[in-house]
Amino acid sequence: MKQHEGGRQVRIGIITGSGTERLPGAQVLATMTPDTPYGPTSGPITLAEVSGRTVAFLARHGAGHSLPPQQINYRANLWALKSLGVEGIISSSAVGGLRPGYAPETFVLTNQLIDRSTGRIDTYFDGSRPTGVRHLPASDPFCSTLRRHLQQALTARGLPFQAQGTVVVINGPRFSTRAESAWYVSGGADIISMTQYPEPVLAAELNMGFANLAYVTDSDTGHDGSAPVTAEAVFGRLKAAQPHILAVLEAAVSTLDEGYRAPQLMDPEAVRIIMDQPVPG
Ligand code: ADE
Repeated sequence: MKQHEGGRQVRIGIITGSGTERLPGAQVLATMTPDTPYGPTSGPITLAEVSGRTVAFLARHGAGHSLPPQQINYRANLWALKSLGVEGIISSSAVGGLRPGYAPETFVLTNQLIDRSTGRIDTYFDGSRPTGVRHLPASDPFCSTLRRHLQQALTARGLPFQAQGTVVVINGPRFSTRAESAWYVSGGADIISMTQYPEPVLAAELNMGFANLAYVTDSDTGHDGSAPVTAEAVFGRLKAAQPHILAVLEAAVSTLDEGYRAPQLMDPEAVRIIMDQPVPG
């Protein structure tokens, strides 16, 4: 287990999306801007205490939402969290709902994903030295233990949620056409996002568990008769929901015990090689 300068263990990482860039209930211990072999992270990582646990907190879009989804340095973000000793990551995302049951203001505990993003680097094992090629099993990309803790937190607060959902991840930054949206539904997607890929698979390649708390902000192109999504609608709904999102994240962290172990899908020696790479500078 790695430790930061203050000597505390950091087991849980939180990656938040648009509109949720701070954890107000947490006591900040340190802020750091770690360098990585993959370049800079989206922004500073805040170490904070939440219910006696030390949490590493990162806003994926950077300060002031400056990074669009396709320009986020996902590899640097996940590597940096792992380097702090993080074993499990809980992320939050705004999503569009694609069918009845996934209406605006519903939370979703994503359990499957369809990747329709393009051009994102989604592996540490790209054939370049020193890692070579590894093929990650990806059948169940979200950690059932972390999802259970999120479910308990949602239930305790009486918030509406779907315990499962398949997310389709598009590249963005534009939203979908009506034809695209209908096609995603026919392919089995329940919700749509720009940021839920490749975080889960990169986490798994480093033997970290990963879960996502999705919050439905809109009905995408309007399958329920509502107006098609706009960025203003997404940010407006998120702002209103921010206290709930943060409360659920905090509650899920505070019920995770020391016994949490991430699914170990990657050969530990391969992970060690990735993590032992020198950081330039
Ligand atoms: N994030 C929030 N709403 C979305 C939508 N409709 N499509 C893609 N990403 C989203």
